[in-house]
Amino acid sequence: MKRGKLEKVDMIVSFTRQRSIQILLIIGVLYLLLVSLEIPLVFRAGSSVVSQDSLSRPSPLESEEDLEEREAPSRPLENISRNSLQPTPSRLNQFNKIISGLALETEAFESRSEDAISEFYRSAKIASEVGKKFWDELESGKSQHLEKKKAEKGSNSSCPHSISLSGNDFLAHGGVMMLPCGLTLGSHITLVGKPRVAQPESDPQITMVKNGEESVMVSQFIMELQGLNTVEGEDPPRILHFNPRLKGDWSGKPVIELNTCYRMQWGSAHRCEGWKSKANEDTVDGQVKCEKWIRDDEGNSERSKATWWLNRLIGRTKRMDIDWPYPFAEDKLFVLTLSAGFEGYHVNVDGKHIVSFPYRTGFALEDATGLSVIGDIDVQSVLAASLPQSHPSFAPQQHLEMSRRWQAPPLPDGEIDLFIGILSAGNHFAERMAVRKSWMRHKLIRSSKIVARFFVALHARKEVNVELKKEAEFFGDIVIVPYMDNYDLVVLKTVAICEHGVHAVSAKYIMKCDDDTFVKVDSIMNEIKSVSGTGSVYIGNINYYHKPLRYGKWAVTYEEWPEEDYPPYANGPGYIVSSDIAQFVISNFERRKLRLFKMEDVSMGMWVEQFNSSKAVKYVHSFKYCQFGCIEEYSTAHYQSPRQMICLWNKLLRQAKPECCNMR
Ligand SMILES: *[C@@H]1O[C@H](CO)[C@@H](O)[C@H](O)[C@H]1NC(C)=O
Ligand SMILES: *[C@@H]1O[C@H](CO)[C@@H](O)[C@H](O)[C@H]1NC(C)=O
Ligand SMILES: *[C@@H]1O[C@H](CO)[C@@H](O)[C@H](O)[C@H]1NC(C)=O
Repeated sequence: MKRGKLEKVDMIVSFTRQRSIQILLIIGVLYLLLVSLEIPLVFRAGSSVVSQDSLSRPSPLESEEDLEEREAPSRPLENISRNSLQPTPSRLNQFNKIISGLALETEAFESRSEDAISEFYRSAKIASEVGKKFWDELESGKSQHLEKKKAEKGSNSSCPHSISLSGNDFLAHGGVMMLPCGLTLGSHITLVGKPRVAQPESDPQITMVKNGEESVMVSQFIMELQGLNTVEGEDPPRILHFNPRLKGDWSGKPVIELNTCYRMQWGSAHRCEGWKSKANEDTVDGQVKCEKWIRDDEGNSERSKATWWLNRLIGRTKRMDIDWPYPFAEDKLFVLTLSAGFEGYHVNVDGKHIVSFPYRTGFALEDATGLSVIGDIDVQSVLAASLPQSHPSFAPQQHLEMSRRWQAPPLPDGEIDLFIGILSAGNHFAERMAVRKSWMRHKLIRSSKIVARFFVALHARKEVNVELKKEAEFFGDIVIVPYMDNYDLVVLKTVAICEHGVHAVSAKYIMKCDDDTFVKVDSIMNEIKSVSGTGSVYIGNINYYHKPLRYGKWAVTYEEWPEEDYPPYANGPGYIVSSDIAQFVISNFERRKLRLFKMEDVSMGMWVEQFNSSKAVKYVHSFKYCQFGCIEEYSTAHYQSPRQMICLWNKLLRQAKPECCNMR
């Protein structure tokens, strides 16, 4: 396309000036015609094109009324505290208290002493004791004071412009370079290293070799930008995973693989295998995603360089394509530069562009707080420069949009149809904001027919709690469960959801989901309507005959779960119970008779099974409550990053059909 245009321009120049002006005019008219025809076409097509479009463009609101309540100027909330973002007492009264009504007083945990489950209660006891102390401090305003002092002290030196480490220092830091303030547009990292000579590798995960076959020679390394400020118990998100495989890839060729990993869920791999990206493929800041390299080392690189020089001398072609070999070679020093552009990352090796990787949704540059290099490589030095000068690693105001528009509507007086409790962690400011700006805007939620609340425990960092309290007071949609957050105690939040749904809002049905779950509210309500009047129900993606994993990182010990099987249980990212079940859970908890297990979804399955032994429960299974990602026609989608949430919502507004946002 571009080349064609250039040729046209060349032609025009050689005509007489008058004639060329005429032609230019005609071209201009044609261009205008094309543009005026094409723009509406692009807009119409926009909804089905890659979803990233929908993020930057304000959505046409044709069908919005169906889903979303209009912003009514006369809504009661609009009048309250108009001058100030600080909550006034009158505003706070509109909401229930921000602290959970769950009785976490420590004697509740003391009375349990059966050995089998006492470990759980011991850690719950400690967590709620510390949590109570933290909360009291927070209420007295002590921690605010403390944090202000700390912030003033540490503000000047915390964001270096550049960081450099020698190979030995890098090794001494465990192959990780900390980037305290993350990266920003224009930041670049230079890595000087030498890939090691291939070694026989027998790890079946890498080589896919079956036992007994001979091992494969492997030489590969991995450079990663990681988000190190994450929830305990989870691997850090890999904001960029860059993996050159010199030898040992299953394809038998040297490749470079790039990817991202959010909450331990890998995206789709971007592989460069030596072919240049096709001309019709999207570029990244004008660069191709993959450059070409010679795929078989047959020495034709010399020949092609020679022909290139010959052509240049003769002046026959201006094309600058030369075939270079694969950029990494065993035992040969390379200089790699990774830079952050507008649209993505660019990797140059020895001065030549190699790959570009478009930014993926949900992976922000400022979150890239660590660079890790592992694998068959000797690192000589690492240098990061043009780093951001301000500290974004903890800046909730970047994620939180303190606008009354996102505040929760007042609670209704009577019974409600559905209460949705969303599990969240203290520092998940961005995740919560994305929920507020997406499915929580549904008209059934805006009109309080359905009430949704986040359930958050206290964070180990006091400044997070200070912000959390402010956020809870402003938006009115957070219920704080005052214990120290801990992956193994998440089930306490589930109990708190039952308590809130039964006591604070009096809901007919109670749903539990996560802050990376996208809930298609209409589908949930339809499902509920179809079973209402049939008594007790348990709806979700139900697992039958699952067994505990007894080894590995997520192992469940026999002390924790002595039985061989789990009860039938609905997957945690989205399930619904009728209020009588929730009532049963909470009254058993209050009578200290509730058995608690660290996996909250299995716990719920166990409680429902108990309940079912006295009153029949209808189990409703649907695969539309997705455990892994998103499927078309979903009721809930899981592992959705904040930007995917917004994308899913925009798709729902624009087209009635639920469609996934699987961003590449
Ligand atoms: C709310 O504000 C509107 C104008 O913005 C005003 O007319 C109305 O009286 C106010 N209501 C209350 C209860 O203050
Ligand atoms: C930064 O703070 C340290 C003490 O924390 C002080 O010694 C230093 O002079 C300060 N630097 C600047 C540029 O203000
Ligand atoms: C629920 O209880 C009924 C009647 O006791 C029983 O037949 C059924 O198998 C139970 N369901 C589950 C999933 O335990």
